[in-house]
Amino acid sequence: MPGQIQKWPAWPEYNAENGTSEDQDFINAKEAIIQEFGPENLQRAWIQVCKDLSSITDEIVRKGNEIIPICYAEEVLENGFSSGDVERIKKTGCLIVRGVLPRTEAEKLYLQLHRYILDNQDTLTSWPVETPSMYDLYDSPVQNAIRSHPRHLKLQRVLNGLWHDKSGETSSDPLIYYDGVRDRPPNQVFLGLGPHIDAGSLSRWAAPTYRKVYEAIFSGHPEDHDAWDLGVRKDAVQDLFKAPAHSSVFRAFQGWTALTPSKAREGSILLYPNVAATMAYMLLRPFFNPPEDEADIMDASKWKFDESSCHFPGTEKDLSQFLSRSSHPHLRFEECMVYVPEIQPGDTVWWHSDLCHAVDPEHEGTQNASVAFIAAVPTTPMTKVYIKQQLADVLAGLQPSDTQGRVNETLLKGYKSHENFSEEARRAFGYYL
Ligand SMILES: [Fe+2]
Repeated sequence: MPGQIQKWPAWPEYNAENGTSEDQDFINAKEAIIQEFGPENLQRAWIQVCKDLSSITDEIVRKGNEIIPICYAEEVLENGFSSGDVERIKKTGCLIVRGVLPRTEAEKLYLQLHRYILDNQDTLTSWPVETPSMYDLYDSPVQNAIRSHPRHLKLQRVLNGLWHDKSGETSSDPLIYYDGVRDRPPNQVFLGLGPHIDAGSLSRWAAPTYRKVYEAIFSGHPEDHDAWDLGVRKDAVQDLFKAPAHSSVFRAFQGWTALTPSKAREGSILLYPNVAATMAYMLLRPFFNPPEDEADIMDASKWKFDESSCHFPGTEKDLSQFLSRSSHPHLRFEECMVYVPEIQPGDTVWWHSDLCHAVDPEHEGTQNASVAFIAAVPTTPMTKVYIKQQLADVLAGLQPSDTQGRVNETLLKGYKSHENFSEEARRAFGYYL
C-alpha cells in the first residue's frame, strides 16, 4: 500500500499509566460535558463513530496515500477546485498543491534561507536543541517572499473559501500568521512530533466556545458534525491554556511550502487522511474505558462509560493533542497514518486544523529537508486583533507573542524591511487593520 509505515517508530503510547490527570481543569471539562449532553448521547456517539471508523479505515488501508488529493497550482489558481476535489478535500481534510512556486524560484529561496540561518546562527534559537532543525525565525526575507508571493496569497484565499460562514463577520481574505521554518539535516532521528493535532488540546473540551464547534458530536450525532463551519469556529478559543505550542489564531489549513525535495523516510510528513470522524473519536475517547480483554478492544459496545476518572490520553495543557496506537485503537494508526507522496521544491502540503499529522522520524536522504510553515488564515474578528498586534510587534523588533521568542530580527544580518511589499501583501500582513 503506497505511503504506509514499514516499522512503527518509537513514538510514545498514551495508556492509562501516563495520561490520568488530577488537574481540576480536566475534571471540570469532563463534568461540564457530561452535564450538558448526558451519558446516553455520548454513548450513542461513541458507538456510531467507532462504526463509521471501521469503513473509513478500511478505505484508507486500501488506498494508502493515494487517498490524499493532489492538485496543480496552474489549475487551482485559474479555476478553483473542481467539485470532485472539494469533496475529497472535505473528507480527507488534506491536500497537496504542486507547483505553487516555480521550482527554480523555490530552489533559489532555499539557498538564501540556508545562508541567512548560517549568517545568524549565533543569534537564532532552534529546536530540538541537540539537533537543530526548526528555527525560531519569523520575519526573514525568504519567509516574507513566499508569504507575499501573489500565487501563494491567491491559493491561501481559495483554501480559506473551503470553509463557510453565514454570519458576515468573516472573509476568505488571507491574513499572514508568522510561523517558523525548518531546515533539517539528514541522518537525524526525530521522535518529538508523533501523531498529534494542533490548534489547542484541553481547550477543545474546556473552552465553551470551542466545545460548541463539536456540539453535534457530543449530542450523539457525530455524522452531523460539520468540520468546515467557520461561523462557529471563528469564536473558538484555542489557547485557553497559553503555551508556545498553541496558536491563538484559527488556521483554516496548516501548511508546508517545500523548499527542497522530500519523501518517505527523508524528512517528510505523515497525515491521517480523515478529519471529522477522527476528531469525534478523539473527543469522545476520555469518556470511555477499554475492555479488560484485549480481544474485545475493537468492539465499541464493550467499552465502559467512565463518569468519574479523568484519563485524557495524550492531552497536556501546554502541548498539542497527541494520539497513539494503544490509546486510540479504532484509528488503526499503523495502517492509516501515511506519508505524503514525494514533494518537490515549490510544492505545498495543506491540512485542516483538526487533522492528525506527524513529522517523519527519519531523514535518510543526502540533503537538508527544508520547509516554510505557512498557513491559510481567513479574516475573522479574533484573528484581526492578533495580526494587528503581530505586525506592530515585528516592526518594533519583537518576535510574535504566540512564539514567546526573544530575538530582535530586525538586527539580523541580511534583514529586509517590508518596504517592497505589494498592496495585496500589505493587506495580508495587517497594515490596514
Ligand atoms: Fe503539528
